[in-house]
Amino acid sequence: MNVIQLMKERRTIRKFKDEEIPDSNLYEFIDCARLAPSGANMQPLKYVVVKSREMLDKVFECTAWAGYLKGKGTPGEGERPKAYIAILADTDIKKSGFELDAGAAAMSIILAAQEMGIASCWLGALNREKLYDILSLERKYSIVSLIALGYPAEKSVAEDYTGDVKYYKDEAGMLHVPKRPLSEIIIHDV
Ligand SMILES: Cc1cc2nc3c(=O)[nH]c(=O)nc-3n(C[C@H](O)[C@H](O)[C@H](O)COP(=O)(O)O)c2cc1C
Repeated sequence: MNVIQLMKERRTIRKFKDEEIPDSNLYEFIDCARLAPSGANMQPLKYVVVKSREMLDKVFECTAWAGYLKGKGTPGEGERPKAYIAILADTDIKKSGFELDAGAAAMSIILAAQEMGIASCWLGALNREKLYDILSLERKYSIVSLIALGYPAEKSVAEDYTGDVKYYKDEAGMLHVPKRPLSEIIIHDV
């Protein structure tokens, strides 16, 4: 698939198959993030890979899923992510202003995964205090985001926005994600 197709077809997935992701794939995603753009090329980002059953269960308790779906978007026992990549900023390298670097890294991970048929959910609603403890992290690391990963066990489609940004599920369990049209987001050409 070419990159434009990947970007347009990518959707957040929150239910995953019970199938492990090879370690080599996880490290490949981080290698893509490693090479992402970085302000002043400071490269303040560090990563933690979560993949053991015990740690996956613990990290899951620190996450929140699909606020608009009122519980229906939370993965059930057998549908949970098969790995997480935690994106951290090392504040010894950069004290603040690392969020844009982290965004670029997150998209690199997400698109690299998509290319390999692995779906993802970017997680920003986190119990960070608990995560520091579970991941045995020094406080010099700022926990920016987690990327939840797994082979997809649900489908999601982007559709035209009709006045409400809330994503929803239809009776068949298909997720619909309203996206504002180009005509609304391009202010003008100059
Ligand atoms: C910064 C950021 C934080 C997010 N945090 C969460 C989260 O904590 N839980 C969740 O279920 N989805 C989270 N998402 C996923 C969004 O809900 C999702 O991207 C949005 O609904 C649009 O759907 P799409 O990714 O399929 O286009 C987050 C996305 C971003 C960019």
